[in-house]
Amino acid sequence: MAKPAGLPNLRLFAVICVLAVTAVGALLYPRLAASPDAAVEPMPALLATTPIRPGEPLLPLPDSLPVDPAKVALGRLLFNDPRLSRDDSLACAGCHDLQRGGADGMPVSRGVDGKKGGINAPTVLNAAFNFRQFWDGRAATLEEQVEGPVHNPLEMAADWDQVLAKLQADKELRSRFASAYPAGLTAATVRHAIAEYERSLLTPSRFDRWLRGDDTALSDEEKAGYRLFKRHGCSSCHQGVNVGGNLFQRFGVMDNYFANKKALTAADMGRFNVTGRDEDRHVFKVPTLRNVALTAPYFHDAATSSLDEAVALMGRYQLGVELPARDVTLIVTFLQSLNGDVRP
Ligand code: HEC
Ligand code: HEC
Repeated sequence: MAKPAGLPNLRLFAVICVLAVTAVGALLYPRLAASPDAAVEPMPALLATTPIRPGEPLLPLPDSLPVDPAKVALGRLLFNDPRLSRDDSLACAGCHDLQRGGADGMPVSRGVDGKKGGINAPTVLNAAFNFRQFWDGRAATLEEQVEGPVHNPLEMAADWDQVLAKLQADKELRSRFASAYPAGLTAATVRHAIAEYERSLLTPSRFDRWLRGDDTALSDEEKAGYRLFKRHGCSSCHQGVNVGGNLFQRFGVMDNYFANKKALTAADMGRFNVTGRDEDRHVFKVPTLRNVALTAPYFHDAATSSLDEAVALMGRYQLGVELPARDVTLIVTFLQSLNGDVRP
């Protein structure tokens, strides 16, 4: 009997599918096995359909996540709405400026009444890909995270009764919520809309184009910087889709960073503040390095405004090496290729 002509192609396609699934599985598995806290990156299905360079510790950002545009639009409004603060003076965007890489450029943020917070503001860009939110990972989801700033007396200093009363007095907003959500305008739907908006804040970069196979997307210096980033071991912590955001690690693995500090703050205790376990002292969520060139100052304590110095400190405290100046420069050049724009 004659073979149907399509068969060999089908078989080849099946083999490619199996290889692709195995490759993605192999990339995800070590991270799952390494930390019981690590969560599977969202949307592995999307990743499996994306051609990637096999074996890379970094994975390309999808162009978008499946979100509801009506809810995203509501979330965008609320993210920029100062009514979420006690005295209508401060919106989320006041501390997470999309023109400043999704952060505020300050050592510590300033809340309502100009009150100083205790920690540097991280970016909201690509936060959907963090396995936990906050430096100490105390919020499990973006929805849960919203509770933090709204209630924090050093940030928006409000509560839901107050905020909802103000928002519900806005007829137009109430009716838009009623058409987007069966439950209408509630604390839960406000949290969801803001989180949905944040899920739309993805910044694919030139580096992602390179990861997807476009060799011309990076310069030779950027490629050399990426090789050093891997060779020195940066990618053992800053890895996956968000070049970070999927592990907890101690700040000061190879040398005691905190012993060299003048005065310790509560924030310096890191994840210990959440779990009370000795082994979590000075442990932080490994931050994303996407858009990092835009989000100085660096580290939870804003120890430096220089990205070069931040990289050199990482070498010293996390890897136990004094990086040659040339390596630092090349790694910074690579990190700049991670800058991306939010698609409108
Ligand atoms: C007063 C400044 C300020 C305001 C207002 C503010 N934030 Fe933040 N945001 C911060 C700081 C500081 C942190 C880090 C706090 C920590 O980790 O303990 C943070 C953390 C976050 C994170 C976690 C990111 C990560 O990598 O862990 C997200 C997401 C976020 N904010 C979203 C929001 C949203 C949504 C709003 C509005 C409801 C908001 N923020 C309002 C300063 C602010
Ligand atoms: C052992 C894990 C680990 C290794 C290895 C590591 N980092 Fe980090 N990195 C972290 C942690 C944890 C933080 C957050 C520290 C803090 O602020 O408390 C961080 C923070 C950073 C920051 C500051 C980000 C920000 O938004 O403030 C940069 C930049 C950075 N790392 C780059 C690098 C580079 C480049 C290398 C390789 C030379 C490297 N890291 C190696 C765990 C690591």
